[in-house]
Amino acid sequence: MKTNTTKTGIAAFYIPLERRRFFKSMALASAGFTLPGYLAEALTLTPQVTQGPFYPLAKNIPLDKDNDLVQLNDNTSSAAGIITYVSGRVLDKSGNPIRGALVELWHADNGGEYTYSDDAPRNPRADANFAGFGQFLTGASGAYKFRTVKAGLYQGRTRHFHFGITVPGQKSRYTTQLFWNEVAKAADGTTWETTNENDMVLMGIRDAAQRASVIKEFVLVPGTTTGEQETAWDIVMGLTPNEPSYPEAPGGTLIVAGIPASTPSGGRERFRVTAPVYAGYSYEIYANPTMGSLGWAALPFGLSEAGKVDRNIHTASAEGKLDFFVERPSAKGFYYVAFRLPGANIGTPGGRGGGPGGPGGPPPGGPRGRGGFGPPGSAAGRPPRPAPEQ
Ligand SMILES: [Fe+2]
Repeated sequence: MKTNTTKTGIAAFYIPLERRRFFKSMALASAGFTLPGYLAEALTLTPQVTQGPFYPLAKNIPLDKDNDLVQLNDNTSSAAGIITYVSGRVLDKSGNPIRGALVELWHADNGGEYTYSDDAPRNPRADANFAGFGQFLTGASGAYKFRTVKAGLYQGRTRHFHFGITVPGQKSRYTTQLFWNEVAKAADGTTWETTNENDMVLMGIRDAAQRASVIKEFVLVPGTTTGEQETAWDIVMGLTPNEPSYPEAPGGTLIVAGIPASTPSGGRERFRVTAPVYAGYSYEIYANPTMGSLGWAALPFGLSEAGKVDRNIHTASAEGKLDFFVERPSAKGFYYVAFRLPGANIGTPGGRGGGPGGPGGPPPGGPRGRGGFGPPGSAAGRPPRPAPEQ
C-alpha cells in the first residue's frame, strides 16, 4: 500500500487561516447537535418558497462550491459584508436528523447583486470575491453550516437567503428562503421600502407558524471583534428520506480512501479517489474537514493524475471504475463520493424547483437499469417556471 511520501505532505497543504478557523468551528458545532431530548419539541414544517431565477447554471457554478461563500477559490481577499454564519440541522417531520441531505445556499452579495441568474454568466457587477453559491452534504447528525455574508438588499424584496434542500430519495429540490428579524436599512440609513410585512414571498407563506419559522434573529458571534453574526435554523422536511442503495455500496454510501497520487510539477499534492460509476449518473467528491459527523465539503477535482482540477461534478458516460483526483486532504484520508440520478438537479434552470435526485438518490432498482425512475429530463420532474423575481 502506498503511503504519503511526497515532500509537500498534508501538513503543508495551504488552507487560508480564516477557512481553517471556520472548519474548526464546524467540528465544535457538530458536538452540540446530539443532545438527547432535543427532538421532543413540536416541529413546524419548513415552508416551500419559490426558487426564483438566481439559482446558478451548472456551467457557471464556481469550482469552489463548498460551504464557505466568503472566500472564493484561492482569492486572498474575502467577500465584502458582515460575516454571517447560518447553521442547524436537516430533520424529518419526526425530528430525526437526515443524513446525506444536500443543502444549497445562494443569495445577493453585500451590494444586492446576485452572482448568477438563469442563462447569464457570472454577473460582472457582483462582488468578485463572493462565491454567490455554496453547498453542503449533511452527515449522520443532519447538521449543516455555512459561512457567508449578510445578504444584500435589492429592490422589491426584504433581506433573505435562498436555500435548496434535496434529501435522499427525494425527486426534487425543496426550495425555501430565510429572513432576518430586523427593520432593514438602506445604505443611506432610511428604512428599506420592502419589509418583512410587505414582502410578497414572505407574506405568501400563509401559515403563521411556518412564516415565523423562517424569520430568525441574527446575533453577534460571541467574542467577535468584527461584528460577525450567526443564527441557528433547523430545516424540517415533511418528507421521509429514502436512503438509496448502490451497487458495491450498501446504504448508498460511497466512502473511499484517497490514495496519494503524483504531484504535478509546480502543483499541489493530489489524492486519487476511485469509485464505481454508471452511465448517466453524476458524481461529486466531498471531503470531511472536521473529523466529526457534521458533514462534508464539496471539492473540485480532475479526471487525470497530471491534468487540471477543472470540475466539481462529473457525469459518467459508461459503467466502470473511475479515478477522481483531488487536491485537498480529507480527515483520516477518506472521501465521500456522492452520486445523482441521470437528469438530476445538476444546477440548471431546467431543474428549477427540482429535477429528480440529489446526492445519493437512486430509487429501487439502482443504476443498473432495473427501473424505478423516469428518463432524464422527463416532463414529470419539471415544475412550471416560477415568476420572474424572487
Ligand atoms: Fe432573492
